[in-house]
Amino acid sequence: MGVLEDKARARTFYRYLSKVYDRINPFVWNEAMRDEALAMLSLEPGDRVLDVGCGTGFGTAGILQHTEDVYGLDQSPHQLEKAFAKLGKHDPVAFHYGDAERLPFKDDSFDAVWSSGSIEYWPNPVEGLREIRRVLKPGERTVVVGPDYPNSTVLQKVADAIMLFYDEAEADRMFAEAGFVDVEHTVMQAKPGSPRAIVTLARAPE
Ligand SMILES: C[S@@+](CC[C@H](N)C(=O)[O-])C[C@H]1O[C@@H](n2cnc3c(N)ncnc32)[C@H](O)[C@@H]1O
Repeated sequence: MGVLEDKARARTFYRYLSKVYDRINPFVWNEAMRDEALAMLSLEPGDRVLDVGCGTGFGTAGILQHTEDVYGLDQSPHQLEKAFAKLGKHDPVAFHYGDAERLPFKDDSFDAVWSSGSIEYWPNPVEGLREIRRVLKPGERTVVVGPDYPNSTVLQKVADAIMLFYDEAEADRMFAEAGFVDVEHTVMQAKPGSPRAIVTLARAPE
């Protein structure tokens, strides 16, 4: 398990990274990639959507372009402060401080769940995915974005030491274990040589 797959350490990490997060993030995950991934959810006005590990609200802001019923959750108070400064604390987004592996929401309560760049920090990603499935209405969709597993053996060793990087086969296993169906992956990259993101679209069973 990587050094940042620990909730307290990840919280400390984001205490500092939050100061520069919005300047660094576009090098690996930019608006065009976000919007292409969000389009997979086919959101409609009025849909209730949750952003798990919303951070400074980058994905949340994209979701708001489709619907006004938006919830965001993160375990870093420092990241959330940045999100509040951009998007307000309660309106239009209902932000929650909390853990992806124990979502404070009722079963079957969301029309879609989005999570970008957060799963790699969860100590038990399958538990987090189960939570996403639990809060999704039957038959509805999630998009989860994480870091694609590097090809080179050296980079794999570095990646494994830091946090979860995964390939399509590993994603298939995790999403199936969490109870999802119709799982599809798309690999995205800001530019050649940049780290790749693995974008997974999956559906809660009917
Ligand atoms: C790379 S940032 C991604 C932020 C945002 N989703 C985006 O696309 O820019 C990862 C976020 O996941 C949050 N996070 C990590 N582990 C978490 C957990 N167990 N529960 C909730 N949030 C978590 C971090 O605090 C951080 O804000």
